Amino acid sequence: MSGLLTVEGGTPLQGEITVRGAKNFVSKAMVASLLGEEASELRNVPQIRDVEVVANLLGLHGVSVEHDPQAGVIALDPRNVEAAHVADIDAYAGSSRIPILFCGPLLHRLGEAFIPDLGGCRIGDRPIDYHLNILRQFGAVVDKRVQGIHISAPGGLRGTQIHLPYPSVGATEQTLLTAVRAQGLTELSNAAIEPEIMDLIAVLQKMGAIISVDTDRTIRIEGVDRLQGFRHTALADRIEAGSWASAALATRGDVFVKGATQPEMMTFLNTFRKVGGAFDVRADGIRFWHPGGELRSIVLETDVHPGFMTDWQQPLVVALTQATGLSIVHETVYENRFGFTDALRGMGATIQIYRECLGGLECRFDQRNFNHSAVISGPTPLRAADIEVPDLRGGFSHLIAALAAEGVSRVRGIDIINRGYENFMDKLEALGAKVSLAEAQGQVALV
Ligand code: EPU
Repeated sequence: MSGLLTVEGGTPLQGEITVRGAKNFVSKAMVASLLGEEASELRNVPQIRDVEVVANLLGLHGVSVEHDPQAGVIALDPRNVEAAHVADIDAYAGSSRIPILFCGPLLHRLGEAFIPDLGGCRIGDRPIDYHLNILRQFGAVVDKRVQGIHISAPGGLRGTQIHLPYPSVGATEQTLLTAVRAQGLTELSNAAIEPEIMDLIAVLQKMGAIISVDTDRTIRIEGVDRLQGFRHTALADRIEAGSWASAALATRGDVFVKGATQPEMMTFLNTFRKVGGAFDVRADGIRFWHPGGELRSIVLETDVHPGFMTDWQQPLVVALTQATGLSIVHETVYENRFGFTDALRGMGATIQIYRECLGGLECRFDQRNFNHSAVISGPTPLRAADIEVPDLRGGFSHLIAALAAEGVSRVRGIDIINRGYENFMDKLEALGAKVSLAEAQGQVALV
């Protein structure tokens, strides 16, 4: 697919699209298959770049991967796991942060693991200090080398007590994937409890793990000697569903998101309703629409689950440019997730960014030099522009802005969007968007 998209905006999105399994669960469940002594099967798998990256990485480690993208089924057989070549891992992993989660399973299977420089979206520093400390606590030896990080476990991995400084999703997954086969009991406090993590726990339980979750964010894992394969259907992608919902609202449209589920989206649905959006939860999905009239400004803080997801923030901010009054958004998960608003300002939005915490939540970025609060004043009509996609969610948000704007926008670098949005071009067309792909030639003036 070319990286340049032409978007003729001003047409409400209308129709039906389907979301499949959550990107941020599917990739982890695929890694979990490494821990089994038999083959596993995952269903409802979306056809996105992150799935391809993890499939390739598993393949490099000797896992046989059979993927039927149409059916959304992926079969993973880890019986011949072996060490991969450093250069190969580096070549395949460049765009993803998932390799760090291979550590625990590979230490159990092979006694060592190698982690290249990690990719992922540029929305903050995204360090891996929690991950490395966790692995050390289990007894692993972490050796930083020129090409990346080599990790070994000469004495095996032993259960331990871990307290996370922040309920990190990745660090919680790291602990789970390492503890299930470590010797003895592991207790993780201040853990993340996102629905995607609960689904990963469900997978591990199917494999034979013993894991309990307390109401106070403490997870206890009793290590077992062996794990079997699993068969599992992935939970729906609530980030993608929320993104299409925001697109419906910003374009004054009406979109039925087949496959979207209510329990994981409760916080989003509350916020969507407060802004003035309408929704209808049905047996097979959720319909989101703009009911006419004015949208209302809101005060919003992103947070770990069950709070408002940081990944919903960027698409919703585009809709907030169309709400009457001043909206305040305090981003407390990532220190640098408002970079995408530069382009929105260039399209006519009135958005000011602040270093201060504009909200009541205790935030790690208080009194530090991070632009992590936004004030959005609306409604402001959006004008077409030439835009460069900065990251996955920011990129989709730019697409929404181009769809809502009057005139023809050119959005460059849309390949990034394939990392997390399945067949988004087909979906846009199904919703009546006037979009066309062109070769990315010549210089596009950036806003
Ligand atoms: N953090 C550290 N040290 C660490 C790990 C995390 O300081 O070792 C900090 C991060 O810098 C960040 C915060 O902790 O400020 C939360 O990061 P977390 O570990 O929870 O995020 P992640 O596991 O790297 C996953 C998703 C993100 C999503 C976050 C929060 C995947 C592959 N990625 O990232 O998804 O925003 O959880 O829910 O699961 C996306 O899909 O676009 C995306 C960025």
